[in-house]
Amino acid sequence: MAIERTLSIIKPDGLEKGIIGKIIARFEEKGLKPVAVRLQQLSQQEAEGFYAVHKERPFFKDLVSFMISGPVVLMALEGENAVAANREIMGATNPANAAPGTIRRDFATSIDKNTVHGSDSLENAAKEVAYFFRETEIHSYAWTEKK
Ligand code: RTP
Ligand code: MG
Repeated sequence: MAIERTLSIIKPDGLEKGIIGKIIARFEEKGLKPVAVRLQQLSQQEAEGFYAVHKERPFFKDLVSFMISGPVVLMALEGENAVAANREIMGATNPANAAPGTIRRDFATSIDKNTVHGSDSLENAAKEVAYFFRETEIHSYAWTEKK
């Protein structure tokens, strides 16, 4: 399996609930290492640009207002099969449909306040990581677990 890099965002509800540490622990426990981390208040323009693929969708306005309702944690995660692994750890978009033990099932409130974002393909992951981080802000390190 390949080592990949993906973008994770802890959404404003995750910060409001005080579960940044618990969420990062889920990633670390499953072998995904944060290689860039920043807490930031997104501007409306940044949030609209980030979710531009959804701009024609009926939920776009609500999604953008939620994403700027408070600060978020932006992270690049690195590890084996990171794109799919992150999506699996997050669980389904609607927490009601998310599998037990996933972040969204365990912590999220609704499809709108669903606690985390994760890139959905390797191609989008590269674009999304680059949207928020310069290459000099990303610090890869040995990803293999010490045995
Ligand atoms: P995300 O991009 O945030 O990681 O979530 P996702 O891939 O699981 O879902 P996506 O289809 O990309 O949708 C982005 C976010 O928009 C909100 N949404 N609301 N009301 C609705 O039908 C609806 N569908 C999507 C969710 O908050 C979702 O995370
Ligand atoms: Mg998505």
